Amino acid sequence: MKLPPDARFSTICIHAGQTPDPGTGAIITPIFQTSTYVQDELGKHKGFEYARTQNPTRAALEANIAAIEGGTAAYAFASGMAAIDALTTMLEAGDHVVVTDNTYGGTFRLFDKVLTKYKLEFSYVDTSQPQLVEDAMQANTKMVFVETPTNPVLRLTDIAKTAEIAHRHGARLVVDNTFASPALQRPIELGADLVTHSTTKYLNGHSDSIGGIVIAAREEDAAWLQFIQNAAGAILSPFDSWLVLRGTKTLNVRMAQHNANGMALAQFLSTHPKVIHVIYPGLTNHPHHELAKRQMKGFGGMLSFDVGTFEAARDVCNRVKLMSLAESLGGVETLISHPATMTHASVPPERRQEIGLTDSLVRISAGIEDPADLIADLQQALA
Ligand SMILES: Cc1ncc(COP(=O)(O)O)c(C=O)c1O
Repeated sequence: MKLPPDARFSTICIHAGQTPDPGTGAIITPIFQTSTYVQDELGKHKGFEYARTQNPTRAALEANIAAIEGGTAAYAFASGMAAIDALTTMLEAGDHVVVTDNTYGGTFRLFDKVLTKYKLEFSYVDTSQPQLVEDAMQANTKMVFVETPTNPVLRLTDIAKTAEIAHRHGARLVVDNTFASPALQRPIELGADLVTHSTTKYLNGHSDSIGGIVIAAREEDAAWLQFIQNAAGAILSPFDSWLVLRGTKTLNVRMAQHNANGMALAQFLSTHPKVIHVIYPGLTNHPHHELAKRQMKGFGGMLSFDVGTFEAARDVCNRVKLMSLAESLGGVETLISHPATMTHASVPPERRQEIGLTDSLVRISAGIEDPADLIADLQQALA
């Protein structure tokens, strides 16, 4: 198999980084469950010495995702948080980072509770407003860390504009692309220097693995990431690498159905008398709908809706039958959650209020089931 240089997205997802196993012809990259590799003679080996440093299953996944995101190279880590932690090792004591204020709670916890101990400084701003990013830039700003769309209020940041601001100030732009996936949004094409994912979500897509990845646009950043992956050692296991590699093959078709189901649920909820407000970038009343149309190839499977009171939100979460009440997102099965008491419980209440994360907000990660069954489930839960 030779991937044509002008291969399109689905073809890249299925074939990039994949070559049949030379020993057996196995079409699927095997799980190389080994800790070390036998060397031919002293100083002569096959490119693999020790499995923290190199593993063929992980290498196949990394080549695959680097191509999917249009980057130079990718490095896979034990979780999305391990990937973000690795990224921050590009910084030095005294550096400043501008961060999306509604970033994932775990990212906030790492930055606020761990990395401030190492004299890194963070400013949290609403990056959906480029002027606020501009205003937050300091002489020591070395990184702008953006999540778009955000969780769970689905605010969008203009990646191209933010890249221009970051670069004018000599900072790198990092985009956490977990919520959109590269099937919908390719930040490197828009000027981002680095992209990160919790592969736990859409890239794996089957709710059976925890992992993370960083994709670098440039060689010098790739070289550092390779160094830190080996030096700190928070690597993705061969089995998890294999699972994610299986997931990326169907990314494009899964995302098409996630988009369709997200839209179907958003439209249904918009007309429901018990629903006060629906937040979905595909709806024309979403404040960043125009940006979503420009920046994304689809509106995704994540949506949130407000049912007026905490009690009503609790009832919907408890009454669904087909949907599962659970944290996480991006799998083939639909999940429902209550961000204020689940994923965002660690965010102070006044901060939740500021970003519109009310106690009456319910979040859905639309899976790829038949949308009519999902709508029927919500209908009975809201009745
Ligand atoms: C946007 C985003 N980034 C990063 C993470 C962290 O990923 P992981 O749970 O794989 O460590 C999450 C987890 O929910 C997330 O939603």
